[in-house]
Amino acid sequence: MKITKMSVMVLMLGLFLGSCAKEEEMAAATPTLYARLGGVDAISAVVDEFIGRVAANPDMARTFKPLLDEVGAQGASSPKLISLRNNLIDQIGEASGGPQKYKGKDMVTAHKGMNITTVEFNSLAGNLSGALDKFSVPTAEKTELLTVIASLQPMIVGK
Ligand code: HEM
Repeated sequence: MKITKMSVMVLMLGLFLGSCAKEEEMAAATPTLYARLGGVDAISAVVDEFIGRVAANPDMARTFKPLLDEVGAQGASSPKLISLRNNLIDQIGEASGGPQKYKGKDMVTAHKGMNITTVEFNSLAGNLSGALDKFSVPTAEKTELLTVIASLQPMIVGK
């Protein structure tokens, strides 16, 4: 067979298109973190458990006092509590590749003036870790989510 310039180009194009299709297939085969966590219902359950742990955590008493006072007075209908819960679900949903859109304040603005310490930050991250363990979230997914949370530290600590 005579190898023409044209046949080499057609072959290369074929190889290129083939590799594109493979990449697409591989991307489709890896579900998002959101899907692997179990979607919005699983994330909501983790957020509820997380909020319960934060509320009971003595390290959080200083910064969360206004919220805890409102919950003490109004129970589960506290607007601050409802808003925080929805914002956390949206934030984790969006960060893990879900359809949610976070509509709350950016992390610097939300924590401005609180002077949150590294100890407080790690204590709260420990509450999230505990909540994920409670629902037996596997190590890979847990590490992925905690890595996203850890990346927010510079925007939250010391503001
Ligand atoms: C680990 C990463 C953290 C994330 C992802 C996070 C996320 C959020 C979000 C989404 C809000 C609501 C923002 C809004 O209302 O628009 C918020 C508010 C707040 N955060 Fe954080 N936060 C983190 C760490 C911390 C830490 C370490 C503390 C304290 C030790 C803290 C204390 C608060 C308080 C007191 C509020 C206001 C709650 C209220 O009264 O409505 N956060 N945070």
